[in-house]
Amino acid sequence: MSVSQFVMRRPDDWHLHLRDGHMLGAVIGHSSANFARAIIMPNLVPPVVTTEQAAQYKQRIISRIPAGHEFEPLMTLYLTEETRIEDVKAGAQSGLIKALKLYPAGATTNSDSGVTDFDNVIPLLESMAEIGLPLLVHGEVTDSDIDIFDREAVFIERVLHPIRNRVPDLRVVMEHVTTSDGVDYVLSQGDNIAATITTHHLIINRNAYLVGGVKPHYYCLPVAKREEHRLALVAAATSGNSKFFLGTDSAPHLDGAKISACGCAGIYTSINTLNCLAHVFEDNDALDNLECFASLNGPAFYRLPVNEERLKFSRSDEPVSFPEQISVQNDHVTVFDPGFPLFWQHEPTNALEV
Ligand code: DOR
Ligand code: ZN
Repeated sequence: MSVSQFVMRRPDDWHLHLRDGHMLGAVIGHSSANFARAIIMPNLVPPVVTTEQAAQYKQRIISRIPAGHEFEPLMTLYLTEETRIEDVKAGAQSGLIKALKLYPAGATTNSDSGVTDFDNVIPLLESMAEIGLPLLVHGEVTDSDIDIFDREAVFIERVLHPIRNRVPDLRVVMEHVTTSDGVDYVLSQGDNIAATITTHHLIINRNAYLVGGVKPHYYCLPVAKREEHRLALVAAATSGNSKFFLGTDSAPHLDGAKISACGCAGIYTSINTLNCLAHVFEDNDALDNLECFASLNGPAFYRLPVNEERLKFSRSDEPVSFPEQISVQNDHVTVFDPGFPLFWQHEPTNALEV
């Protein structure tokens, strides 16, 4: 049965890059218009490593939220081998810090301060397990001899599973899972591991950035994989299974930095993510599960209340248009082009159902 309208709770974004300064000012309104809350990634330059830095960054974000938008930034710390347990505990107990982010050193944008020797962070992970603070992992090894398409699967085997064996009560989110190996691993384990899935990994496979010329606007990390992996992600996201929830990983870079001999990884989706997701879920006869994926499963894992506000989605007859680019200083950020027209749009509503 085809549906042309539905109402769901306002969603949250459980993995978001807002950056700082001019870029923050240019992008924040797209997230705050669509989402009630977002887990804010700490990979600034320099990274957000202390509770005090996170408090200051939160204030900078809040000061840029457009008037009339309700949006709560949920702050994270960037885990380094020097991170102090007492600082993490104080940050979590105050309610400011919602998670720590683990980047293997060199895995992605601004990850140079990431972890090289995982043994050095085990005591900290044990403290996090005690207080129930989630660890968010960028799940890719960085060894030069490991093929980039295998880095997620190898990370699970060599890093993630051994860490979880050493700290069995640690609560873990595998961020932006991109392979069937990742999905299968999360499904095979207990309740203390979940995964975020991005909008773009539900839509593109590796052809998007390699066929017909190199397409830098489809380049992100982890890189999109083969079609069979995309299908595994779609199956997981649309299943309603509480272990999977939306983390857009919307990651703006100036076009000048992306269109380059060494272009940055990141895809900007904040502005059209919900429209894209409604399309994907409809295509898979799963519109009923969009609310689980975008609005219910994330708060359940993070032990936070669900949002009370609602969005009404409507399918229009004509495609909805989005800007191809947004202006930032003297350059642009290119908006994700899903490669198909988008018909779903949404607006706030007071109604609980259509
Ligand atoms: O594509 C990505 N961009 N993946 C990441 O892990 C980091 C992000 C960024 O910060 O640009
Ligand atoms: Zn990210």
